[in-house]
Amino acid sequence: MSVHKEVKQALNINSFIKMKENNDKITCLTAYDYTSAKIIDNAGIDLILVGDSLGMVMNGYNSTIPVTIEEIIYHTKSVKRAVNRAFVVADMPFGSYHADINSALMNAIRLVKETEVPAVKLEGGKEIAPLVEKLVNTGIGVMGHIGLKPQMINTMGGYKIFGKEGAELLLEDAKALEKAGVFSIVLEGVSSKSAEIITNNINVPTIGIGAGAGCSGQILVYHDVFGIFTDFKPKFVKRYANVADVIEKAAKEYINDVKSGAFPDEEHSFK
Ligand code: KIV
Repeated sequence: MSVHKEVKQALNINSFIKMKENNDKITCLTAYDYTSAKIIDNAGIDLILVGDSLGMVMNGYNSTIPVTIEEIIYHTKSVKRAVNRAFVVADMPFGSYHADINSALMNAIRLVKETEVPAVKLEGGKEIAPLVEKLVNTGIGVMGHIGLKPQMINTMGGYKIFGKEGAELLLEDAKALEKAGVFSIVLEGVSSKSAEIITNNINVPTIGIGAGAGCSGQILVYHDVFGIFTDFKPKFVKRYANVADVIEKAAKEYINDVKSGAFPDEEHSFK
């Protein structure tokens, strides 16, 4: 009997526009290391984001602010080594694109050259449209990110949801980003109705996180979705596994076995 492994074609920027046109939902998750990225790539995920959320779930910071471009590069290289099919995007961390267009461009070029990702993600609306245009004209794919922008936590005074009141401004942002050349836009913490309106009024796909079912696709953080990060669980997260519980139980068994002498046994030793 032969085992048939489905080989799917690697995705590119155009795949996502087509998926939106065909009403084929775009599946996205974050990942930060080789092993995790390999698992979700094998599962058939469309897009993997090496997000600056790694600062919270991998490094234990209280926000994404301390994450550096070196950390993003380190994690993105590991993810890239694992992936055959998914489209990999690297987040530009806080401070790496805020000073001026030239330093932002140089940082994006560094990210793309050192990690070989086809695209980067930036938080911001119409105010970053000139930068987006510059990056796209340089040959770097750009994913936008509007609504709740975690890199603005200090000036937003907390994580806020964007309701009906903000919908018009968000739509203006989305249109400006589309005009500047983004291939997709993350909508974070946006009411379902507003997200649907934005999605229906632009051509590029929207990827929701806490933005309801009307987006062209969805993204969640790896450690949230598989129940690995347990410090807190945002309302929009659905846990598909409780891996932290599984590991804790297994770790206790391992500790007991070593203490009692049950491990290593003959099966796991060399004669
Ligand atoms: O950093 C991140 O993981 C993100 C996604 C949650 C959209 O920006």
